[in-house]
Amino acid sequence: MLTKIENLSEYFLAYEKSVANPETFWGRVANQFFWRKKWDKVVDYNFEKADVKWFENAKLNITENILERYLYTLGDKPAIIWEPNDPKEKGITLTYKQLFEKVCEFSNVLKKNGIEKGDRVIIYMPMIPEAAIAMLACARVGAVHSVVFAGFSSSALADRVNDCEAKMVLTSDGNFRGAKSIPVKEVVDEALEKCTTIEKVIVAQRTKTEVTMKAGRDLWWHEETAKVDTQHKAEEMDSEDMLFILYTSGSTGKPKGVVHTTGGYMVYTQYSFQNVFQYNSDDVYWCTADVGWITGHSYIVYGPLLSGATTIMFEGVPTYPDAGRFWEICDKYKVNQFYTAPTAIRALQAFGLDPVTPYKLDSLKVLGTVGEPINEEAWHWYHDHIGKGKCPIVDTWWQTETGGIMISPLAGLTPTKPAYATLPLPGIRPIIVDAEGKELKGNGVQGNLCINFPWPSMIRTTYGDHQRCIDTYFSTYKGMYFTGDGVKRDEDGYYRILGRVDDVINVSGHRMGTAEVENAINEHPLVVESAVVGYPHEIKGQGIYAYVICDTEGRTEASLKDEIKATVNKIIGPIAKPDKIQIVPGLPKTRSGKIMRRILRKVAENDTSSLGDTSTLLNPEVVDEIIKGAQ
Ligand code: WT7
Repeated sequence: MLTKIENLSEYFLAYEKSVANPETFWGRVANQFFWRKKWDKVVDYNFEKADVKWFENAKLNITENILERYLYTLGDKPAIIWEPNDPKEKGITLTYKQLFEKVCEFSNVLKKNGIEKGDRVIIYMPMIPEAAIAMLACARVGAVHSVVFAGFSSSALADRVNDCEAKMVLTSDGNFRGAKSIPVKEVVDEALEKCTTIEKVIVAQRTKTEVTMKAGRDLWWHEETAKVDTQHKAEEMDSEDMLFILYTSGSTGKPKGVVHTTGGYMVYTQYSFQNVFQYNSDDVYWCTADVGWITGHSYIVYGPLLSGATTIMFEGVPTYPDAGRFWEICDKYKVNQFYTAPTAIRALQAFGLDPVTPYKLDSLKVLGTVGEPINEEAWHWYHDHIGKGKCPIVDTWWQTETGGIMISPLAGLTPTKPAYATLPLPGIRPIIVDAEGKELKGNGVQGNLCINFPWPSMIRTTYGDHQRCIDTYFSTYKGMYFTGDGVKRDEDGYYRILGRVDDVINVSGHRMGTAEVENAINEHPLVVESAVVGYPHEIKGQGIYAYVICDTEGRTEASLKDEIKATVNKIIGPIAKPDKIQIVPGLPKTRSGKIMRRILRKVAENDTSSLGDTSTLLNPEVVDEIIKGAQ
């Protein structure tokens, strides 16, 4: 195994070293990978310009660190275990050797169909092995993948294709999810009506539903792979060459393309994976995320495979055919590390213990959570009933932009505390600041979370708009990366993430910009204006509450609300559909015309006792009306 921390004092030592001499520290970690040429300098950075370079001038291919690397030592070990949506269908296991062949084969398909180093390829696929193969094949030929979660609508997909001027889309005919079958290819066809840069679409067969194949553009995955061989020499990449773009929501405007590069991302995802989860060579690891999110990139595909781990990919949903499915899979494959989102835990907790008791769950050693703050009740349920009181919980805090886990216990080494992400990983330097950017030193403080030194897997730019990267992350506080999260450091120096301090809400672990949802609502022809806020939701963590001013034109409120939901569904996708819509006569505005969201948040939280000062409002009378009509 590569640099693995084995006990708590080793962690503290590693942390100290990483701060005292980051170049030596990360140089040593990076030395354990295969580089075609080593770096001239470990790290170089200027946060004011959002200019960060790791392992400068080093040359490598990330897939050689998965495929060539483990071929002789772990060739017959399962790399990916795929579990289908329907438990009655047979799963697929790909060994490291088989994965090598499949990735090489598809790399040849990409090349044959005109993909060159630097080209952008969109992956819009369900959770099938081809999705991971596609990502790795892109990396192998030097193309930049951009995975778009297959639950996004055609219009959201088109926006992403156009933003990165992608040349190819990789997709499937359909997607089995629970009792549903979703027509994936149809969504792609609709999206591409609004795109001009796509030359080829390659379609993997999954549901065998009928699809239209556009001549000259659309090709079948199985037909293309049948035409090529399984040998492929990986492209040589620079450490700072783009590996992928992943779109994520922010507090303003359209989703931005977060760019990650090759060398640093490789080093950090592997390092964090093996240390946080304390992976041992024969363990079976399962992360329930979708590859459409960063968690799937870093901790289903890259981190585990770079570590020579066995990683499970699950196509389905936690409640199909029943709410015991996760636990059934844990027993079936003897899962050792299980990583999921608090929203899934809360949803399953609501079914009680009946779906849990039929399963032994005795292979589990480590439980993980990610994506949103975990409430203490869910933490205890997870700990007691799934981990049977013997599995440490790693509450991992990180972001699409951080590429890897930043603050988290190391399983079994760091003493845990419910709802605390605990301590930073080696190399990560959190700093808490007040609204003015003044550092809040010592313990027992609360403020905004920043990171004041680069780490290898950090965001490099926002695709096509570097200024936006500077403005979003490096301008709020000079010389620091601002996370957008509020945080508390307690008397023990442990970190507890308190949630977003910007106009971003976290719905079932999915990040949504309130402005983005408002823009979608405003597309409805009768909507005049809208304001979206989050409110506490028992299962989802936060729900979406929309205040909407609109002409009713004879429609009932109920049908209008349905139409608005349908509009959001069409423009973004089901994950952005408001949970509550309130039709209002006006929105509370300041004299300068800004919506006073603080008031709307309070009403949505059903906490109108302390609305604060409303005297500066242009239209204070509207507040009473809003309270009266609250949902
Ligand atoms: C935001 C990032 C990181 C992969 C999934 C989400 C919230 C994430 C935690 C945690 C409390 C958390 C933060 C963060 N978040 N993990 N363990 N405890 N909050 O990635 O979509 O980029 O969202 O998720 O608010 O900023 P993302």
